[in-house]
Amino acid sequence: MGLDSRKLERYLEDIAETRAEGSFNRKTGRRIRAVVPMHTFGHPVDLDPLVETCRRYRLELVEDAAESLGSYYKGKHTGNWGTASALSFNGNKVITTGGGGAILTNHDKLGDLAKHLTTTARVPHKWSFIHDRLGFNYRLPNINAALGCAQIERLPEFIRNKRELAQNYLKAFAGIGGVRFFTEPDFARSNYWLNVLLLDKHFADQRDSVLDLINSQGIKARPAWTLMHELDMYRSCPKMDNLDTAVDLEQRLINIPSSAILGEPHA
Ligand SMILES: Cc1ncc(COP(=O)(O)O)c(C=O)c1O
Repeated sequence: MGLDSRKLERYLEDIAETRAEGSFNRKTGRRIRAVVPMHTFGHPVDLDPLVETCRRYRLELVEDAAESLGSYYKGKHTGNWGTASALSFNGNKVITTGGGGAILTNHDKLGDLAKHLTTTARVPHKWSFIHDRLGFNYRLPNINAALGCAQIERLPEFIRNKRELAQNYLKAFAGIGGVRFFTEPDFARSNYWLNVLLLDKHFADQRDSVLDLINSQGIKARPAWTLMHELDMYRSCPKMDNLDTAVDLEQRLINIPSSAILGEPHA
């Protein structure tokens, strides 16, 4: 479900020119600065080869870990591989603060800079108000932070229940033809943030009828988000010629109810 490092490698071979200061897109002349892999529905992408690609092309790796709080790649939590990464505490995520999120980084200086920029870039002083950079007021309000502290205490329980729910789905769909319950990759332990059913290829044209049927039973099911390269505002952006895998998966993918409550014992 995630960024395919082999395809990225071939794409960069084709379009990138690497100089001392970094990589540039040969066609547009613009700097290529970062690779932003996303751990789709909580399933970690294969990060090791991406780290290697970023090293060779002098790109920053920025993990979008918004969906993967509680997911592990090769025994270590997602969000640890790149320069920085982001978590989301939106209402639909594994834990919520009502809104907001967190920046993760293992680089102390970058962490200090993030803190500075997100808190209006004010220079600490007893009474003067000097702002030394263009700053932002991205503080998580205390009330939301208090909610987050209470939620984080329950994270192990939420993950346990979500993984239990995934196991129940796996068993329930095991004997059913034409559809497969999507499970974590071998190298990962996923939080199963949003559960995924994949229709067989020859049923792809029936996805919308299946969605209609499930929703008509009072059960919420939904398609994946529209792929970014198909959104109007990104249509003219540089992209790989062949995005067949993403297109194919999007056409036959259905997200089914995934709340931790559903995995509680006796739910
Ligand atoms: C992969 C991914 N990135 C970013 C976001 C945005 O997070 P937020 O809603 O906290 O801005 C979300 C979800 O909302 C997401 O699923």
